[in-house]
Amino acid sequence: MSTQTWTKKDLVGIEHLNREELEIIFRTTSAFKGTLTRNVKKVPALRGKTVVNLFLEPSTRTRVAFEMAAKRLSADVVTITASASSLVKGETLRDTAQNIRALNADLLVLRHSAPGSAAYLARILDIPVINGGDGAHEHPTQALLDCFTMREHLGDLTGKKVTILGDILFSRVARSNIWLLGKLGAKVTVAGPSTLVPDTFTHMGVTVSHNLPEALADADAVMLLRIQHERQTATHFPSLGEYTGMFGLNQARAALLKPEAIIMHPGPINRGVEIDSNLADSSRSVILEQVTNGIATRMAVLYLCSGGGPDLISKQESK
Ligand code: CP
Repeated sequence: MSTQTWTKKDLVGIEHLNREELEIIFRTTSAFKGTLTRNVKKVPALRGKTVVNLFLEPSTRTRVAFEMAAKRLSADVVTITASASSLVKGETLRDTAQNIRALNADLLVLRHSAPGSAAYLARILDIPVINGGDGAHEHPTQALLDCFTMREHLGDLTGKKVTILGDILFSRVARSNIWLLGKLGAKVTVAGPSTLVPDTFTHMGVTVSHNLPEALADADAVMLLRIQHERQTATHFPSLGEYTGMFGLNQARAALLKPEAIIMHPGPINRGVEIDSNLADSSRSVILEQVTNGIATRMAVLYLCSGGGPDLISKQESK
């Protein structure tokens, strides 16, 4: 086993992480997942620390998973949403963050509509900043929980075909997964209408496909993405019905995947649009497993960025 330890203060994206750092996160996630099945699910790792979740865009899964992760680590947690903050009175993000720091926060989780916002606060603040999604740029903990879930089902991802289908252009989940899957050796295809899946994505080392049968054929995993209406300023296809007709995942199209392939979605799902409702609830779907793995993943990230070392992992392995 490598002796490299985690040295980063922040997690603002996947792009600049190396393979060893990724494996440290996955090993720590596994260790914490083990603690979540015990009678006593709390560990004292962050006792006495305060995690502030500054969520300035809507969220269910990420916000709740970060809150639960912090509580399972015995931290105190404060969540701030846009409408309940003084941002609505004109305070800047910088001033908001510096005031949260002055209130003695020990870690800050940020969701914001502006790409680069988490990296910006990471430079300003002397406490760890975790990116909970910055515009269409990155959503690193989503990709980590997605790949953790894939590895549980598919093992080593080297050479595995993973197809990401839907609104790639406006998706931070797609970008973080493209970086992460590439670093793990998977073969990634991004698919959907050319307006939402431009050829420029080939620069990220993926195959771009506008031919759905080709994109789905023999895939080991397919990840559906919803249409991000909130980020689109123009019309990218004639109607939702036509999008579903051409690119929605239904039973006939799912039959093109490998028999043991898994169906994924970061949520929220728009049933009957990007995915047939029955498929979302089928035995091939791991969508709710992804959500559950989000807690251990966020525990790992909070723990490592707050300076937690590998002693927790060795304790788990010696059991
Ligand atoms: N996957 C995801 O980020 O979901 P939320 O927007 O509900 O957090």
